[in-house]
Formats: sequence, C-alpha cells, structure tokens
Amino acid sequence: MVTITNIVYLIAAIFFIIGLKNLGSPKTARQGNLLAMTAMLIAVLVTLLDRQILDFSYIIAGVIIGAAIGIVSAKKVEMTQMPQMVAIFNGFGGIASALVAFSEYLRTGNSLAIDGLITLILSLIIGTLTFTGSLVAFAKLQGIMRGAPIVFPGQKWINAILLTSALVLGVFVIFDASLVSFLLIIVIIAAVLGVLSVIPIGGADMPVVISLLNSYSGLAAAATGFVLSNNILIISGALVGASGIILTQIMCKAMNRSLTNVLFAAVGTDDSGGVSTGGERKKVTEYTAEDAAMVFDASQSLIIIPGYGLAVAQAQHILQELAELLENRGVAVRYAIHPVAGRMPGHMNVLLAEANVPYEKLLEMDEINDDFQNTDVVLVIGANDVINPAARYKKDSALYGMPILNADKAKTVMIVKRSLSPGFAGEDNELFYDSKTMMLFGDAKKMVTDLVKAVKDL
Ligand code: TAP
Repeated sequence: MVTITNIVYLIAAIFFIIGLKNLGSPKTARQGNLLAMTAMLIAVLVTLLDRQILDFSYIIAGVIIGAAIGIVSAKKVEMTQMPQMVAIFNGFGGIASALVAFSEYLRTGNSLAIDGLITLILSLIIGTLTFTGSLVAFAKLQGIMRGAPIVFPGQKWINAILLTSALVLGVFVIFDASLVSFLLIIVIIAAVLGVLSVIPIGGADMPVVISLLNSYSGLAAAATGFVLSNNILIISGALVGASGIILTQIMCKAMNRSLTNVLFAAVGTDDSGGVSTGGERKKVTEYTAEDAAMVFDASQSLIIIPGYGLAVAQAQHILQELAELLENRGVAVRYAIHPVAGRMPGHMNVLLAEANVPYEKLLEMDEINDDFQNTDVVLVIGANDVINPAARYKKDSALYGMPILNADKAKTVMIVKRSLSPGFAGEDNELFYDSKTMMLFGDAKKMVTDLVKAVKDL
C-alpha cells in the first residue's frame, strides 16, 4: 500500500509541476488550475485511504464546513477583495500546518526523532507567524486597520530578539522533547513576531507581503510534511514556498524595490486611495464622450491602459466592445499591462481574459513601452499610479523608482476616472493637467458605454 500511495503521490506531484508551468501563460492558466486541483484531490483521497483513520466523522464535518466557507467566499468576495481573501487563506494554511505538526507531537507522546522535532519547531514558528502576519495584512487591506506603516524605535531589534528566543527555546526542546510548555511559548513568540513584522509595512506594499506570507505558508506545510513523513506535503509545500518567493521577487522588480526595502523601509501612505490633493487648483480640461469619439475617428493607433478602476466598475466587457468597434473602423488597438496594475498579480490579465480580449493584444510593459511615442491615442481606464510621471523623478514619493507605462509620450492621452483623486499610493498625477490630456470624468462603465454610443454615432 505504501508503494502504491507513493506512486500516486508522485503522479500528483508531476501534475502540480505541470499545473504551475501552465499558470505561466493566460492561454494555459485555466488548464493549469484544473490540473493542480485534480492533483490535490488525488493526493487528499489517497492519503485518506492510506492512513489508518479510525474515525471519519471529524474529517467529514471538517470537509463540509471548509467546503461551505470556500464556496460562499468564492461566490461572495468581489474581485477587488481578492488580495484580502488570499491573505486570510494563507494565514489559515500556516496555522493548519502548525496545528497538524503539534498534534503529531502529542499523538506520538513526545517520541519524535530529532529531525521530526526540528521540523516541528520550524512548522510552529513559520506557521504561527504566517497566521498572525496574514491577519494583520487582511485587516490593513480590508480597512479594519489603517494602511499606514506603524513604526517605533528598536522595532527591528525586538523582532530579532524574538526570533532568536524562539530558536533558542526550540534547541532546548530538541534536547528534551517533553518540554511542552516551551513549545507553547514558542507559539506565543511567533504570533507576536508575525504581527510586529507586518505592521511596519505600508498598505501599498501589502501585495508583496501577501505573496511572501504565501511562500511562508508553503514552507510551514513542507516542515509539517517532514514531521508526518508525508512526501506529497513536503513536495507541495516546497512548490508553494518556491513559487511564492519567485512571485515576491517579480513584484519587487516591477516596483523597482528590493525585498529588504519593502520589509524594512516603512514606505507607504494610508491606502484608502481617496485623498484629494491640491491638484484641483491646476487647470484641467474636461471632455465629453463625443469629443473623444472624434479623436478616435482621426486616429490609427490606440493603446488601452487598464487599472484598478476598470475592475471596480466591471467595465471590461464594454471596453472590449469599444475596442472591436474601433478595430472595425481601422484603428490598431492594443492593451498595455503594468505588472502591478489593479490590486493583485495578474489582475488585469484575468479581467480582460474574462471579456475574451485576445491574448496577443495584451502586452507587458517591457514589450510596449517604446511604442507609446508612435501612438496616436492612449486610453487610460481607471489607472493612475502606473502612469504617474512622479515615479521617474519625485524622490519623496512612495512611487519613486517604480517603472511606469510611458502614456505621457503618446500624442493624445485620454483618462477615464471619476475625479482628480490620487491612486493607491496617494500621489497627485501631473498628467491630468497636461495640455495633451483629455479628462473624461465618470464611472468607467458608464463612460465607456457612452464612448461606444458616440463612436457608433460617428
Ligand atoms: P490606482 O493607482 O489605484 O488608481 C485607480 C484609479 O481608478 C483611481 O485613481 C480612481 O480614481 C479610479 N477609479 C476607481 N473606481 C473607478 C470607477 N468606478 N470608474 C472609473 N475610475 C475609477 O490603480 P493602478 O493604476 O491600477 O495602480 C495600482 C496601484 O495599486 C499601484 O500603486 C500598485 O502598487 C498598488 N497595488 C497593486 C497591487 C497588485 S499586485 N496589482 C496590489 C495592491 C496594491 P477616481 O476615484 O477619481 O475615480
């Protein structure tokens, strides 16, 4: 039975790896997800069949409650609240790993071998800090806590002392496995460490932290896999750990920041994104959908820049209708995707794929940034920070150093948003006041619907 189980685990692991590979492109992502889900189902079923489980009643109750929570959240949670959901699920993953490892310690009556004890301690520390850290990330993104960094003197030292104390207590447990009270102190220290590590991080940096916590939750699962001697848990945990850290790196690169800078520099403002700045005093030129349609009529090339407001307004379908309409009139339409546009990695790709925008029309920042200067019109829909020129030169801005889409280099810039409010980073955008900019004020869905009508009326 053990051999069969391990063979099935191996097949599941292969599926996980191919599934992850498929997630690398929007074309194959759906298939990748399906494959990874199937692998997880196989892994869970074979584990349930293999282990001598005496009582399935708790398991069935757990499956029913868990599935109910999963289904309700998947249906209820808005696309814009996805980062919070990922944060809280990471936290649950972390605490589940820590609890499973601890119950194995209790079940074996303190008789874990040295490798089991080492990985138990790692699972308790990483799993618990992932849980409390994720709760803080959730609270910041959900607006329960302020998004601004919370800093106090000696914070880094306190964190270092806490981590060292947990590790030292862990060493005592390795020498004397009966020291259960030490394990409980380790858990309390890790819980405090999780909170203290996330509170100094600004709301704008939360996505990076969430992906890092995701990586931690994988490491905690892998550690628990060692405690249980369960190969598939080790493999899947390691895959989550590795892919989480790769995603973290990609996001840091997109913001032109190092991970150390994200974790320790306390950059960021309150992230409500609605703070009005002094921008209103400068001159803004407001246009109508009809004005914009006339400009489209005289254009040959258009680049659409989607942002968070597109997701809020759910304007992706009508936007695709506009794009098709313009293409039929001979305008070459492409989409420019900034890596951190929206509120989660791949947010714009998912949104536009939902509206059946052909993948080859979605271009990454590096692929399209040199083309803006030869483009007639840029249509910015609910995006702000990702086109803010302050990122290039304003050293005291939270955006400074982040590569942006060169929207300002196009001949005409149209910006659809409801007001002059800044974006997530709270920085006013000088492009609103540029003489080549046409501000189209209004909800994205309403304004794009008006644009469709105006183009049809041409
Ligand atoms: P933002 O800079 O946040 O700007 C979005 C703009 O959309 C706002 O200025 C808002 O202006 C407008 N808007 C909101 N609702 C709208 C609606 N219904 N109709 C029309 N416009 C609407 O977005 P972005 O350019 O996509 O940049 C993303 C920012 O979020 C970056 O700073 C990034 O670092 C950060 N971030 C990214 C992620 C990831 S991983 N993608 C996760 C968290 C945070 P009005 O209020 O005037 O309408």
